[in-house]
Amino acid sequence: MRQQSRQGGGAQRVEQQHSRGKLTARERLTRLMDEGTFQEIDSFVTHRTTDFGLADRKFLGDAVVTGYGRVDGRQVFAYAQDFTVFGGSLSEVVGEKICKVMDLAGKTGCPLVGINDSGGARIQEGVMSLGAYGDIFLRNTLYSGVVPQISVIMGPSAGGAVYSPAITDFIFMVKGTGQMYITGPDVVKAVTGAEVTHEELGGATSHATRSGVAHFVFDSDDECLAEVRRLLGFLPSNNLADPPLITRGDPVDRIDPDLRYLVPDEPNRPYDIRDLIYRIVDIGGEEELEEVPIEDFMEVQADFAPNVVVGFGRFNGSTVGIIGNQPSYLAGVLDIDASSKAARFVRFCDCFNIPLVTLVDVPGFMPGVDQEYGGIIRHGAKLIYAYAEATVPKVSVIIRKAYGGAYIVMSSKHLRSDINLAWPSAEIAVMGPDGAVNIIYRDEISKAEDAEAKRKELIADYQEKFTNPYIAAAQGFLDDVIDPAETRARIIGALDMLRNKRDSLPAKKHGNIPL
Ligand code: COA
Repeated sequence: MRQQSRQGGGAQRVEQQHSRGKLTARERLTRLMDEGTFQEIDSFVTHRTTDFGLADRKFLGDAVVTGYGRVDGRQVFAYAQDFTVFGGSLSEVVGEKICKVMDLAGKTGCPLVGINDSGGARIQEGVMSLGAYGDIFLRNTLYSGVVPQISVIMGPSAGGAVYSPAITDFIFMVKGTGQMYITGPDVVKAVTGAEVTHEELGGATSHATRSGVAHFVFDSDDECLAEVRRLLGFLPSNNLADPPLITRGDPVDRIDPDLRYLVPDEPNRPYDIRDLIYRIVDIGGEEELEEVPIEDFMEVQADFAPNVVVGFGRFNGSTVGIIGNQPSYLAGVLDIDASSKAARFVRFCDCFNIPLVTLVDVPGFMPGVDQEYGGIIRHGAKLIYAYAEATVPKVSVIIRKAYGGAYIVMSSKHLRSDINLAWPSAEIAVMGPDGAVNIIYRDEISKAEDAEAKRKELIADYQEKFTNPYIAAAQGFLDDVIDPAETRARIIGALDMLRNKRDSLPAKKHGNIPL
């Protein structure tokens, strides 16, 4: 029976799966886990339906493979929908099998990985199948913030099926095969008249760039599963555990004099914030230190709202969540998408004891009719709320601009950030010099004999006053102004000082984050 169960929907359907460039459910789980550690459970479960001629069409294990194994030695629970059996559709017993591993993951405090490849609710089972989805959504919600939950989309995920991944912490998608949508192209055409392909509507690239639904996108099942393992390496097993410590010999006091030249002299010239991130986080293995350094930064949602960069890196072996404004895209301005992207990342880190390091270079929130009508007020509020609520160690470094409301939101002292540093190039003001002078000296400029000369003079005065970090430092809003070369050492020192930080929120059922 075990042999039979392992054959899934049979050789022909396995062949079909492979011909589409997809691995089978068991192949995926074997690759996800450390070699030889995957332990399958419930392989003899069969569906209970007798309608529609299903009484004699049973497959051992039905349309999902469930179990547990190890990733880099740490226990992980997982399930993989088996497209070779009834198109991976979700029957009542498939739901029961998935809920069983979810409950085990919750009870034992281990991450859960769900691999999706399914035609959705088992049509023949009607409401039993819909109920099974509901049981999964409930558990996704209850275990949210308890154990990390990762969804991997390696085939269709349509209709209600998208909402389990949507509740989980991270969604990985494979290009060309993974597709997520509420309704497929046929329904879209019937209802709205728009013609769109499966891939355009719900493919990995669409979700990675336009909707922001996908956090990571890869070309193949193999590459995708290797990256799921990499992400797990940054995360703790549950909300009461610390992330794994992986020290590779990168010196904590590594000085980088080139950082003094990272910020261009011209205030509006862009640079790539990732150049800074790569240079300060721990780099690859000890042997690689002498060779080409390996950039050990795992960027999340790299192609969505690139005006803010978020991701995981390590300082002295410990995981941190890094949030950096990106001057090389829209000048690093905070808009609707950047605010909600960064807010969700901050909340994930806070759930799982991952300290936050914020690198600030932000000219403000994005002006515009679309932004206002789209609700920048309520989306920007998410980021303030997330930073203010977070109780993990919070360290920030102002690199250049910190203007207006965006100064407050980006991990300022006022939102109980613990250590706030700045480079000498920091500029902290309500707005940039041009805008400010035009507002406060409008009369004076218009009355001057040479208006342009007067404007320039007033801008120079304003710059003299505000384009430095020392006023904020004089108020204690900054703890120190540092030599850029020492950024890594100073961040590590601050994180080390904060290692035993304890902070809390007033007792309440839960807050009401603006959604
Ligand atoms: N319930 C029951 N069986 C299903 C199913 C479902 N939701 N989805 C697929 N299957 C079965 C098919 O009947 C087929 O079985 P068969 O080979 O014994 O005839 C098998 O799974 C493979 O499906 P097929 O349609 O041949 O695969 P495909 O790759 O061509 O298409 C889908 C995949 C997902 C696009 C297509 O199966 C589909 O549209 N399914 C329904 C999606 C849906 O609307 N689900 C409900 C939303 S919650």
